[in-house]
Amino acid sequence: MCGIVGYIGDKNAQPILLNALKRLEYRGYDSCGIGIVADKNHKINLRKAQGKIQNLSNFLKDHPLGSGSLGISHTRWATHGKPTKVNAHPHFDSSKKFLIVHNGIIENYQEIKDFLKEKGYKFLSETDSEVIAHLISFLYRGNLLQAVQESVRKLRGSFALGVISSDHPDRLIAARLGSPLIIGIGKKENFIASDVPAILDKTRKIVYLKDGEIAEMTRKGVSIFDLAGKKVSYKIHQVSLKLDSVQKEGFAHFMLKEIYEQPKVLSRMFASRIKGSKIVLDGLSLKDGDLQKIKDIVIVACGTAYHAGLVGKYVIEDLARIPVLIDVSSEFRYRTPIIDKKTLVIAISQSGETADTLAAVREARAKGAKVISICNVVGSSLARESDGVLYTHAGPEIGVASTKAYTAQLGMLYLFAVKLGMVKKKLKPSKVKDIVRGLKKVPNAVSQILKLKTKIAKVAKANSHFGCFLFLGRNINFPSALEGALKLKEISYIPAEGYAAGEMKHGPIALIDEYRAVVCIVPRSDTYEKMISNIQEIRARKGKIIAIASEGDDVIKQHANNVIYIPSIYKMLTPIVAVVPLQLIAYYISVARGNDVDQPRNLAKSVTVE
Ligand code: M6R
Repeated sequence: MCGIVGYIGDKNAQPILLNALKRLEYRGYDSCGIGIVADKNHKINLRKAQGKIQNLSNFLKDHPLGSGSLGISHTRWATHGKPTKVNAHPHFDSSKKFLIVHNGIIENYQEIKDFLKEKGYKFLSETDSEVIAHLISFLYRGNLLQAVQESVRKLRGSFALGVISSDHPDRLIAARLGSPLIIGIGKKENFIASDVPAILDKTRKIVYLKDGEIAEMTRKGVSIFDLAGKKVSYKIHQVSLKLDSVQKEGFAHFMLKEIYEQPKVLSRMFASRIKGSKIVLDGLSLKDGDLQKIKDIVIVACGTAYHAGLVGKYVIEDLARIPVLIDVSSEFRYRTPIIDKKTLVIAISQSGETADTLAAVREARAKGAKVISICNVVGSSLARESDGVLYTHAGPEIGVASTKAYTAQLGMLYLFAVKLGMVKKKLKPSKVKDIVRGLKKVPNAVSQILKLKTKIAKVAKANSHFGCFLFLGRNINFPSALEGALKLKEISYIPAEGYAAGEMKHGPIALIDEYRAVVCIVPRSDTYEKMISNIQEIRARKGKIIAIASEGDDVIKQHANNVIYIPSIYKMLTPIVAVVPLQLIAYYISVARGNDVDQPRNLAKSVTVE
């Protein structure tokens, strides 16, 4: 949530910051701004815009910032105060000597604001962030680093900061406490950013700032200090991410590109993790002996990752015969979960920066549980705070609606469940063989569905006028129904609910009439006939049925208004395949409605605040 970029170097900062900011737009896009220290007189010039970065870019054409090689910039997802120009970052202190950008939340901002107001500081915005600029100004005694260090010690909450000052045209200060921030090391230039892709075209030498660290950067070098002001050493990582992985490469949207990347992501995962009939889970950091001792599993995650976890519960319980409890992270952290040293906590997160999931992990570790994470972003906070990490390596996911990260999380959960089942001796070798054979067929099955793009687009368009959707599934495809509904609502803004089909008669069937579309996930399975009964009950009440069914199922045609066929695969694996048409339905409905697919309203890619 919110993107930060900062630059200090020998080039003009404006185009560098603007370009990098565009690559962070997925983190928030309701307002933005850039501030630059002028090379000539060291005055700080500031430009802001409401809305997307394109608005700022247009404004800068007529009102350029002038030449300056030190600057900070920000794209915002509003927490405190409306998404207006005045609330947009960067924020000045009253003397306009200090300029800050902030990602996160300052929990004690009101207290600090009241104190500073009494001292005569004038606040212009409704944000929590503005207090930081005034506080630095209040504590400044000629040394910028020291003023930031002292300020950070007084702030409560979680945040990442970038700070510049007209008194110090040779310094960029950055601080991290709970929100992601990286440093890019270049030649005679250095950068800060919320995420690596922002500066990938400038440098691949990355330092991951740790919580409680404050960096002082000049054009020549970087020094990092802890909260007490002691200099600390740091490691420079060479990042190998490809630049094209953060570009659309001819696709209309990142979401569509990412849907299309799924076969590749999955086949890469299975090729590297399945060796004969062995599952290789490098990074797990738990030996077979440790796995044997696990008595129960708790999965924590949010949003789409939570739906992956729900599938994981079915699969792990089935294959490893261990009880699995699953919670959305925001609930887990505020109840009193019963966990101990024999509980394994699995945290699932694409970004690895989701505030609630990180808090849940901290809670679990404090109670003595071992934590492993299933995570996409290498070096993320979650990965660093877990005992073991299973990277999905799905590549950067830019579209706010998660697609390839989900199927990759499912792939990893299947692998983990098989591994655990083997270690616990709950799986016969023949069953392992069947599942492994089935997994290897999944990438091709997904490719087959992608070939149906035109048909799915047609079905989506024909149903895009409905004002309400229900998604129904049973058993292991109940989570698929939840995921289909989430995908649709977040990018089409159509109210959509996912239900276990067996729940229909307990309430939701009251919604059904000719104005409702119902997406039924009905592959061949043990609950196929039950699903057909549900479908008939909906038809009897004039609901429109879109069925996701197994190839070769001719019976379903009699019951559904539209049928999208998915290849038949090993039954337990259907969620990983069935979700693909659901992603495409959501995508094409959003396109038909003229929505911004990649940056839907009110959302941001990673939810780094509570
Ligand atoms: O980065 P994470 O996987 O932890 O993110 C969790 C959710 O915020 C995320 O899945 C969200 O629900 C997506 N927008 C869904 O498409």
